[in-house]
Amino acid sequence: MIKIKNLYKSYENSFVLKGLNLEINQGEILVILGRSGVGKSVLLKHIIGIEKADSGIVEIDGVDISELSFTELYQSIKNMGMLFQGAALFDSMNIEQNTGFYLEHNEDPTSKKRLNKKEIKQRVLDALKMVGLEDSEEKMPSSLSGGMKKRAALARLIAYRPKILLYDEPTTGLDPITSNQINELIVKTQNELGGTSVIVTHDIHSAWYVADRLALHRDGKIIYIAPPEEFIKIDDPDIAYLRKTLSNVERGR
Ligand SMILES: Nc1ncnc2c1ncn2[C@@H]1O[C@H](COP(=O)(O)OP(=O)(O)OP(=O)(O)O)[C@@H](O)[C@H]1O
Ligand SMILES: [Mg+2]
Repeated sequence: MIKIKNLYKSYENSFVLKGLNLEINQGEILVILGRSGVGKSVLLKHIIGIEKADSGIVEIDGVDISELSFTELYQSIKNMGMLFQGAALFDSMNIEQNTGFYLEHNEDPTSKKRLNKKEIKQRVLDALKMVGLEDSEEKMPSSLSGGMKKRAALARLIAYRPKILLYDEPTTGLDPITSNQINELIVKTQNELGGTSVIVTHDIHSAWYVADRLALHRDGKIIYIAPPEEFIKIDDPDIAYLRKTLSNVERGR
């Protein structure tokens, strides 16, 4: 269970998070929607502890991570993994090394044991196969397309199998067929790991496919949160727009 209470965060005197409250249930896929620049990525970075709030609480399974020292924080976030918006692959490592990175440096979150080289290799190959990059292990990030980088970053997350998975724009910039595969993969991963997933996206079709609950981030807060069927009926201009996008695909001419 993740509990966020009254979170405030400002950059250069401008508040991005303004008393944000959010509870994320164990085992659910929560999708957070919101306009560009509202602070969705900032919120995910607070959950994984790489940004520190000005005030407020981020509680993971009863532990307030905002109070922890660096070493304690490192221990507490080992069960989490994040797909960063810009993929954030390590440029000097090939795709196989990138995908195995967390397992090389941490114990396996499920068994709480260090995996050996052979086990890591198997996890990496399975994950790369899942994202359709099984023939790209040797490639360097600089030689991949944007969509391939995104899929490689996803493989890195899936190979690690954390209990809490944070996805920042997992389908943005991907073609519709690959997007669908990613959506299926998110659901499959969730079913297999029984973890908790938080997904930030602009892609309402993807959100609709994967979510147990949908949330809207606006004005520094989560202003609505509800199961998809309820959420989409909310009387609000932003949600009316999403409703329209889902109900009919318009032609430009
Ligand atoms: N490290 C930082 N230093 C200064 N400002 C920052 C920093 N990180 C985020 N911001 C600002 O916080 C605001 C929210 O950024 P954030 O990246 O969370 O937006 P977002 O909702 O994820 O947008 P998008 O949908 O475009 O990805 C922006 O105005 C951004 O410039
Ligand atoms: Mg973002």
